[in-house]
Amino acid sequence: MKKFVLISLLLVGDVFPKGDADKELLAKAKQFFSPLPKSFPSADNPITPQKVELGRLLFFERRLSVNDMISCATCHAIEYYYASPAPKQMGALKLQPRNAPTVLNAAGQFVQHWIGNRKDVEDQALQSLTGPPAFGNPSKESVEEKLRKIPHYVELFRKAFPKDKEPITAENIAKAIGAFERTLVTPSRFDEFLKGNTKALTPEEKRGLNTFIEVGCVACHNGVLVGGTMYQKFGIYEPYWKYTKSESIDEGRYAVTKKEEDKYVFKVPPLRNVAMTAPYFHDGSVASLEEAVWIMGKVQLGKDLTKEQVRDIVAFLKSLTGKIPEDARTPPILP
Ligand code: HEC
Ligand code: HEC
Repeated sequence: MKKFVLISLLLVGDVFPKGDADKELLAKAKQFFSPLPKSFPSADNPITPQKVELGRLLFFERRLSVNDMISCATCHAIEYYYASPAPKQMGALKLQPRNAPTVLNAAGQFVQHWIGNRKDVEDQALQSLTGPPAFGNPSKESVEEKLRKIPHYVELFRKAFPKDKEPITAENIAKAIGAFERTLVTPSRFDEFLKGNTKALTPEEKRGLNTFIEVGCVACHNGVLVGGTMYQKFGIYEPYWKYTKSESIDEGRYAVTKKEEDKYVFKVPPLRNVAMTAPYFHDGSVASLEEAVWIMGKVQLGKDLTKEQVRDIVAFLKSLTGKIPEDARTPPILP
């Protein structure tokens, strides 16, 4: 019996060598990546339908800004996959210091912002309320007072935070928006592949995935989000600005820690939906994904990737473009 199984396995291997290569690639990929969960839960901010619905409204609410002109969606727009097509965008009072990343799947990262100066999505949203490059409100109280005058919000906050005596607070605004962001998960064909359907990717995308692993991109871009798990220096082999032609040089995490070894260190960004969120890098200095990939090879790996390698990797990266959840595909009607 045992012998028979062994022989048939060998035969199958001979008849379907392709299938074996696919299975090998799948096994290899599973060492570095895992499929997206349904949401990114938080013990501090449990996701409830009431909070998510309120958070969705607030995400599009211009009255959160000091001049009633800017919402989260101004810089994280649906049509740009919840990112911004501008290298840097104007906030209520000031230009943003860096390129706006996508908010899709962002809640799954180990920290927020390019230099990790925000702990989680709730912290990020809370600080946006008063930050001059975001909403520019003079105080938390001034936003709270504005919302307390809109009866529909009074009702929705009461439903979302039933235990709170005064539910309209800056902290609860941040919690509601955070809960909404925690549901912004975009599964793609890559998740199908990781779950075992090796036909979910085209031969070119599979070659790209294999190249992505073999040349060493996975050392930094790994996990559920293909990034968002660690900090790394941008420009290990050569200064990044030599290739990005950045106009000003950003010292990265050094701004937070003031430690010499944190100069030019940034969060490794997730690559989910990356094909939809140009321009690239922390300053939006590079417009094409092909160029961004080639630069990564050059400055992070000391490798001059060939045209074919770049093309295959880009094909793989495009397979990370996922579906935006139904409820987040159109802007809501605001109170
Ligand atoms: C004027 C433009 C602008 C507005 C308004 C804005 N953002 Fe952002 N957002 C940015 C930029 C730029 C960054 C990157 C900042 C950095 O890393 O220094 C960012 C970063 C983020 C991140 C971190 C993503 C990551 O991958 O690290 C999240 C989450 C986010 N914003 C959510 C929001 C929410 C929620 C709101 C509304 C409360 C909001 N943003 C309002 C421009 C904006
Ligand atoms: C040593 C760590 C490391 C390696 C290896 C690495 N990256 Fe990166 N990657 C980063 C960091 C850090 C950034 C953020 C750079 C910045 O500050 O703009 C980044 C940014 C990117 C971006 C831009 C994403 C965006 O949203 O702007 C792409 C695309 C990318 N990497 C692809 C790759 C590919 C493809 C490879 C392999 C050829 C690779 N990376 C290898 C660390 C790495």
